[in-house]
Amino acid sequence: MGQFNNEIWFIGAEMAPLVKAGGLGDVMGSLPGVLLKAGINVRVVIPYYKNIIPQNLIEIKESYPAGKVNFGEIPFEFGIKTGITNRGIPLILIEQNHFFNREEVYGPHGGIYGYKDNLWRFAMLAHGAAYAMRIFGVPLIIHTHDWSGGFVPAVIKQTFGDKKVRLAAAGILNAKLSKHISADGLRPAVIFTIHNLGYQGVYGIDDFYDIGIDFRYNSSSAYEHFGTLNSLKGGMLLSDFVTTVSPTYANEVTTPVFGFGLNGELKNLYNDGKLKGILNGIDLDYWNPKTDNLIPHNLNLQENNYKPKDYKEWKEFKLKNKKALFSEVSLPLKIGRNGKPLPLLGIVSRFTEEKGIDIFLDSLFNWDNFPFQVIILGSGKDYIEGKALYLSEIHRDKVYSHTGKYDEALSHKIYAASDIFVMPSKFEPCGLSQMIAMRYGGVIAAGDTGGLHDTVSDIMDTNTGKPSGIFIKHLDANGVSWALNELYNIYMSNNDEIWGNLVINSANKHFGWDNSAKIYENLYYNIIK
Ligand code: ADP
Ligand code: GLC
Repeated sequence: MGQFNNEIWFIGAEMAPLVKAGGLGDVMGSLPGVLLKAGINVRVVIPYYKNIIPQNLIEIKESYPAGKVNFGEIPFEFGIKTGITNRGIPLILIEQNHFFNREEVYGPHGGIYGYKDNLWRFAMLAHGAAYAMRIFGVPLIIHTHDWSGGFVPAVIKQTFGDKKVRLAAAGILNAKLSKHISADGLRPAVIFTIHNLGYQGVYGIDDFYDIGIDFRYNSSSAYEHFGTLNSLKGGMLLSDFVTTVSPTYANEVTTPVFGFGLNGELKNLYNDGKLKGILNGIDLDYWNPKTDNLIPHNLNLQENNYKPKDYKEWKEFKLKNKKALFSEVSLPLKIGRNGKPLPLLGIVSRFTEEKGIDIFLDSLFNWDNFPFQVIILGSGKDYIEGKALYLSEIHRDKVYSHTGKYDEALSHKIYAASDIFVMPSKFEPCGLSQMIAMRYGGVIAAGDTGGLHDTVSDIMDTNTGKPSGIFIKHLDANGVSWALNELYNIYMSNNDEIWGNLVINSANKHFGWDNSAKIYENLYYNIIK
């Protein structure tokens, strides 16, 4: 079965800046870069989609022999390509035009309406990755992600056997392997990260026989779940260790409300010491208000640790970006009392129930003459897109909605311009948008859950001392209105300093990967010890 190399392979469905549908893309695009800088040998394996942004990929023109997998009676060939992203991360790309030569990663409208054959598409990813190991050597560790990476552990085990490699040498992932270690009878260690338990990849159990996975994994200790095929369940149960993307979410998923039917399994993993929450970071070079070239005006401050006096500069930054964005989307700048512009509410989100965008919209529908301007960017459920468009129809001078499409440049402009960033999520495994918004000096109105709980400091919580937003206590339209009204009163008060402090607290929060990357590093070493 070949020899081990000393690499970690990230396997997943998306990766920024090549192709992104949400936060998974950000994580796959940023964490490997941080690990590479720490000297760890990382490669990322993703499908070769049609919509990969070509400027961000340097393809390496070498040809490798094609692989083949049988899905039931039908053989499918696939190709292997390699490349490197414009951020220097080495890639293995699984090329299979029937499955991957499409406009979207998961399906139309940001994947809310998934392609009918996603089961086969992401089974293909797992088979492709295992085949690539014959060409490039077997990595010591596989780090696979979400339900779309859920078939990887089974394919690894059926290819290499159940026995995990052990190499009790610290530094092994940075060093060159001094001797060749045969992968005969040994498999890579597998870590599985759950980014969102709301998507489990559930299909009819009969389909199990058509995805090239050994029948022994059609069991309740793997992919079978109450008579269905559940990719995420098998993925997590067949892996050596499971992580979620924030500490609070790791606790939440062990409860019935957040566990989506897998809380029992997750509780067992937790009790066995095999489940841990590790907070995501963001790419601080990419999301940088001082250098971001997708926004019209950069922040004109040198230092990183902002003082209250720096609010003046932040205020300028917000106002200039707001004016530029308003002129782009044809919104007039509306002035409220005190001569201050109305606070701008920003939304950048997938439109699903979990994100609470519908209750945010209801809050504004119910609010007579609401004192905000609003810019909404998102795609997903038709009825939420429709509601957002309708709100902007009836409040043309106050609301602009851009729905149905992903728009990276507009998202940056919204982060830079908005005073208040709204995320009324019912659950939020981590959430990167609030971190980005805070880095751009936004004050957050959010649900008190998951990664939001771990990253936003509430003005109502007198213990934190450094509030950066408000938690919406009751997640309904009234609750959103209450929270927005609280923030409005602070923003409009005669004393600029209090709002200024919120902005400075937000901007001073540190959301880089350094801390969490170290936790992952330790996990990687421990898993092969
Ligand atoms: P999730 O992964 O659940 O969608 P996160 O907050 O973790 O939520 O990450 C969302 C990421 O996707 C952020 O980088 C956000 O800026 C981006 N994003 C979401 N919707 C859009 C959109 N319509 N256009 C551009 N970027 C978007
Ligand atoms: C998922 C979650 C989001 C998280 C992201 C990256 O899409 O919904 O909360 O930030 O993954 O881990």
